Amino acid sequence: MKTLAADPLVRTHALRCVLCGAVQREAGRLFRCSECNELLEVIYPEWEAAAGNAGEFKKLWQDRRLSTAPQDASGVWRYRELLPQVSAEHIVSLGEGNTPLFQLKRPAQALGLNHLLAKHLGMNPTGSFKDSGMSAAISMARAGGFSFVGCASTGNTSASVAAYAAHAGMKSVVFLPAGHVSAGKLAQALEYGAVVLQLRRDFDGCLKLLQEVVEIFPVYLLNSVNPYRLEGQKTVAFEIAEQMKWSVPDHVILPGGNLANCSALGKGFLELHHLGLISRVPKISVIQAEGANPLVRTMRENGGRQLIPVNAETRATAIRIGNPASWRKAVAVLKATAGTCEQVSEAEIATAKSELGADGIGCEPASAASLAGLKKLVASGFVKPADSVVLVLTGHMLKDADYILKAQGERFAEPMDADARGIIKRLEQLYAGN
Ligand code: F0G
Repeated sequence: MKTLAADPLVRTHALRCVLCGAVQREAGRLFRCSECNELLEVIYPEWEAAAGNAGEFKKLWQDRRLSTAPQDASGVWRYRELLPQVSAEHIVSLGEGNTPLFQLKRPAQALGLNHLLAKHLGMNPTGSFKDSGMSAAISMARAGGFSFVGCASTGNTSASVAAYAAHAGMKSVVFLPAGHVSAGKLAQALEYGAVVLQLRRDFDGCLKLLQEVVEIFPVYLLNSVNPYRLEGQKTVAFEIAEQMKWSVPDHVILPGGNLANCSALGKGFLELHHLGLISRVPKISVIQAEGANPLVRTMRENGGRQLIPVNAETRATAIRIGNPASWRKAVAVLKATAGTCEQVSEAEIATAKSELGADGIGCEPASAASLAGLKKLVASGFVKPADSVVLVLTGHMLKDADYILKAQGERFAEPMDADARGIIKRLEQLYAGN
């Protein structure tokens, strides 16, 4: 059997500024360009010379699915040829990734689409897409000798940080906007043992404050301004392509908050294309809540040149973000993949969410924005009936049970005393005519 060279692409990496293009080796505490203070992205300078070897990866990655070694069982580290090099002893994994790609038959039928799939990232260890990025970034933290990590969060990042830190034997602190984090997510951070700070600030304010702390206190910053988070999250693109036998969909649609996830997915698909592993890239489109729509406004009002921050308000608390850190990366991905962005109302999110639930899939409110947005993109003709579409469902249904209980309130029966006959009568009434 032909064997693969130990490290065909040589995974030394560098960090490049997404605005001025300056390249640096050191990340610094805030992961910002030392020239102009913009965000950085991970690049792999040696790839150019070695790209011809990439064809062998498909078999290697498939073979690793049979291995029980933790770095092979992880849906992130299985693709380690395309990630920063981290030695096995520093890898922190909870078996993230490996999430299902469901057929959405009923929603497809309702929309007149032939091929509609949902990549359910809520099936990760802590119930959201954050885990793939967290495994990558916290492994970098461990390799760098850190023992204390932190994040600001609308809830999911904090759950993930707390779990991965606990698993790695590290301390963690999470900054949360008081009153705007679902009970489930808050409970996770507490149970995993993080120091939980509920602050009288919104998410954007929490992130600003954490960055001030990180500058003077040795906490490793795990928000998605950390470019290694995106390296983990980009592996979702690899999984989608692999699950579709390397024929990519026409569209990938996902919700946007701080705008790192769309940036990561775009990076993943663009890298696969660059290496010749896929023949084209999907259009990546971002959906925001109407009350938290800075990207939509920015694209519509100035074509993506300058961010228009907003005062965010939405019941989809995961994406209640008005000043997204990764907006430049997101604009670049929309442009490079010919995707678009769209906004949806609270009612549209609620309807889409219950439709996904009724299909047996379920997700948290922010995730349902992707289906709500798809409906609009079909209506506008941006998505055509023959197109194949993957919706990214970012969080698990149980992340925000309160939202469901409020929405489904009228189906909550009062406690009742009943015998078998009474119950049968009730069922007959409910299903009369069906
Ligand atoms: N969906 C869910 C369920 C989320 O938790 C988030 C972000 C997003 C979508 C948006 O992703 O920020 O990369 O554009 N949650 C972050 C958090 C902000 O703190 O948990 P994004």
